[in-house]
Amino acid sequence: MKIIGTGSALPRKEVTNDDLSAFLDTSDEWIFPRTGIRSRHVISDERLEDLGAVAAQKALSDAGLKPEDIDLFLCSNVVNEYMTPGLGCIISSKVGLTCPSIDINCACPGFIYAMDIADSYFQAGKVENVLVVCAEEPTRMTSWQDRSTCVLFGDGAGAAVFTRGDGLKAVKLNAEPAPDKIWQYRALEPTPYVTKAETSVPLQMNGRDVFRFAVTTSIRDINGILAASGLTLEDVDYFMIHQANMRIVEGIRTRLGVPAEKFPCNIQDHGNSSSASCPILLDECNRKGMFKKGDKLIFSAFGAGLMSGVALLEW
Ligand code: UT7
Repeated sequence: MKIIGTGSALPRKEVTNDDLSAFLDTSDEWIFPRTGIRSRHVISDERLEDLGAVAAQKALSDAGLKPEDIDLFLCSNVVNEYMTPGLGCIISSKVGLTCPSIDINCACPGFIYAMDIADSYFQAGKVENVLVVCAEEPTRMTSWQDRSTCVLFGDGAGAAVFTRGDGLKAVKLNAEPAPDKIWQYRALEPTPYVTKAETSVPLQMNGRDVFRFAVTTSIRDINGILAASGLTLEDVDYFMIHQANMRIVEGIRTRLGVPAEKFPCNIQDHGNSSSASCPILLDECNRKGMFKKGDKLIFSAFGAGLMSGVALLEW
């Protein structure tokens, strides 16, 4: 399969580090050097499904396809206001898709998990065109009194359209189950039978463990997919790394010994938008005209689970 269209959409409201320090014991001097983030787009009066629909429409238009051309819609999302139906169904109704949609909740590597699923459908000969939308609002998961988490995230949606072709060279998913490293708990409706105590808990994260996992896993994933494909780091034109934290991205880049121009970054004004980060970065690079035919892109993402994924794609 190969990518023939990309799109993205961001909330209107931009919140700078200085804006945060107006109500939180934090500062640009703390946040920027540790994360590379100066501002982030934050959902206010928008709805996530509208951002997802705009990203999808832009990707369809970039691909020159209509909603009825899509045979499968994969929607990556961790949290949104609906428990049911899945966010994919809601975005489908806004875009006019009529194909089946599957929601996946694989946190930050969701775009790569979606590529792996799409690839299986292509290989089975079941589809001609697949739409992937990653739509995330992690700023609704954190406590805005918790300076160790809320400063890290931003919201948004990224999309890509895939068609038959020889673009995806390899994809590999990994999981090292450790649900206590990043988690959020949501109390369900009470029943007469549930006697255990249940309360909602905003996002909790062991930042240092996640940092370590991210850097070591991404390096292992990238070296692994290159070795399996008979390629070297020099053969890769762009490394599209999940935009979790600039220090993570830089840790991966410097340990691999790759020049900075091969590591596009947008974390400075986006923050960590979970699974939306890779397709938003992809769309921004695509619309700048950075990619030329034959360029080799590696996607690497990691996050809650703990899960990771890596993909090698030729443009
Ligand atoms: O998709 C994956 C998602 N997760 C991530 O990407 C997170 C990966 N982890 C990280 O990026 C880093 O661990 C953080 C940026 C989250 C934290 O950096 P750190 O160097 O590991 O800091 P820390 O959590 O050890 O905290 C150091 C100090 C603490 O103060 P004390 O206890 O030493 O007095 C914190 O209370 O910094 C304090 N602190 C803050 N201070 C000002 C934590 N957050 C803030 C803040 N502003 N926003």
